[in-house]
Amino acid sequence: MSEEHFEEDEFTGAVDPNTLWRTAKLSLNHWPLMVTFLFSVVAVAIIENYQTFLSKRIIDEGIVPRDLEAVRSLAFQYFGITVLLAAFVAGFIISAAMISHWTQYDLRKSMFAKLQELSFTYYDRTPLGWLMSRMTSDVTRVGELVSWGFLDITWGITGITAAVVFMFIINWQLALIVLALIPILVVVAIQFQKLIISEYRVVRRTNSKITGSYSESINGVRVVKSLRREEKNLEEFQELTTEMFNAGFRAAWLSALFLPSVQMLTALGVAAVVWYGGFQYNQGWITIGTIQAFISYITFMLWPVQEMARVFASMQQAVASAERIFSLIDEEADIVNRPNAQKVEHIRGVIEFDHVDFRYEKDKPVLQDFSLTVEPGETIALVGPTGAGKSTVVNLLCRFYEPVSGQIRINGTDYQDLTLDSIHSRIGMVLQTPHLFSGTVLENIRYGRLDATDEETVAAARMAGAHDFITLLDDGYSTEVGEGGVLLSVGQKQLLSLARAILAQPDIFIMDEATSSVDTLTEALIQKAMDHIMSGRTSFVIAHRLSTIKRADRIIVLKDGRIDEIGSHAELIRQKGHYYNLYTKQFQKEAGGSIPNILA
Ligand SMILES: Nc1ncnc2c1ncn2[C@@H]1O[C@H](COP(=O)(O)OP(=O)(O)OP(=O)(O)O)[C@@H](O)[C@H]1O
Ligand SMILES: [Mg+2]
Repeated sequence: MSEEHFEEDEFTGAVDPNTLWRTAKLSLNHWPLMVTFLFSVVAVAIIENYQTFLSKRIIDEGIVPRDLEAVRSLAFQYFGITVLLAAFVAGFIISAAMISHWTQYDLRKSMFAKLQELSFTYYDRTPLGWLMSRMTSDVTRVGELVSWGFLDITWGITGITAAVVFMFIINWQLALIVLALIPILVVVAIQFQKLIISEYRVVRRTNSKITGSYSESINGVRVVKSLRREEKNLEEFQELTTEMFNAGFRAAWLSALFLPSVQMLTALGVAAVVWYGGFQYNQGWITIGTIQAFISYITFMLWPVQEMARVFASMQQAVASAERIFSLIDEEADIVNRPNAQKVEHIRGVIEFDHVDFRYEKDKPVLQDFSLTVEPGETIALVGPTGAGKSTVVNLLCRFYEPVSGQIRINGTDYQDLTLDSIHSRIGMVLQTPHLFSGTVLENIRYGRLDATDEETVAAARMAGAHDFITLLDDGYSTEVGEGGVLLSVGQKQLLSLARAILAQPDIFIMDEATSSVDTLTEALIQKAMDHIMSGRTSFVIAHRLSTIKRADRIIVLKDGRIDEIGSHAELIRQKGHYYNLYTKQFQKEAGGSIPNILA
């Protein structure tokens, strides 16, 4: 995907009718609401105009001939339809709000489901920020279009039509004058709104850049200071704020000019009606109530025209939002179950990588001709320089990605003939930077197996050696860990992840060991937890600690996506190859410590 694809608010193309139709259909899913809504809106538009018609009659049939009886009965009618109007107004507000919320709910649900289903390859090429905007601002925009946007348009169209009909009923010559005014009003309003919205678009875009530069400066404050970037940053920042100020200023001016302009046009219409109507009145052709009614109709039309202009001008953006949402919903996952995929109950057999080739991007091979057979219960340590492909091996094993050629077999079956879900449920993984979810410590461990009881969860924490530090936390197991576990140290997070893996009782255990050093006590706890979980289980450890490496049954030295050396610690030392050099140069010096990028 190209960069531009992820640009925000740059959409200037025409509104695609297919997308518009698909967007409209979103609200049809809730058609009883839609029917209530349309019925109420149309009723409101008609009643509002009928009110004006009634006031004309009150003047002509009651006030002017001083007929109090007529005034009273017409006033009653007026009151009656006002109550009806109130009911319909409540009806359309509630149904529009419900449609808006339902649509947003539906969209969020479909998008979230899709995000859960999509493969890593999708996330590799899609920026997080892009996805977040789809889930938030785009959804809101589409929700508003299908409810309030449609409301404004329906109300506007029926309101203006009803007004025109009533005007023709009352006096066709005056009606023609007003009819000539409407297109001018509409064109002026839409042009203004377009200009205003494009300025606001600039404001929004610069605003998001400013937010970005705030957070970069704040997060990187130390680096900024040490590199003496302050002045340069300030300059860039000033440029952005000036741009935003100017756009905001232009938008304010346009808004300030907009309303008076439309009002002047309306006033022109009123003047024309009064002038020609006055002439007709003088001739005794029309009543005073007619002139009054026309003045009301003209001033009434101001609002629907304004609202419709706003909707039409912003429709382009809302449809663009819808388009982006649909593109996400329509995205096909790269890795899906084959039609006849089998469930795997347990992965207790041999795991084979058979001449596996893999690349993330075209023409950039990462693993080449990678073959490896792992016996049940074996512990494999993967070592190698950064970028050698260690994480890639375990990514493939977890089937987050699939081999480009070659096969990975589990229990003798090509794993592409097994269901994804059943593979994932048998693999326990502790990542280099363990991920915790916001929630309590207990909930976080329970992610390993959702149906585990509290007792089982605590038992897993004990086995992982996490129990002691947890009980020292303010609320023990009920302590909130903060978003991403920010309130815990790296070592603590690792212990919790290990507890999670222990609770899950997977058949295969995978650990991407952290290079950052933890204190000796935590280090010992982690080692113990790892021993516990690895015993009797097939394990893959991307190892940085000598203690882990030595304990493995076989060590695989990866280099440029190929197996460089393979064997136990003792064997590799005897071979006096790559591993031996490293061991003698680095490991002995740093024995027991953590050795980042040991083969670099
Ligand atoms: N998602 C990705 N998209 C594109 N290229 C990737 C992706 N992940 C890894 N690579 C590339 O694949 C190669 C192997 O990466 P991998 O993460 O397997 O290395 P590693 O051995 O785990 O390194 P480290 O020790 O730094 O974790 C690297 O050249 C890397 O740039
Ligand atoms: Mg890695």
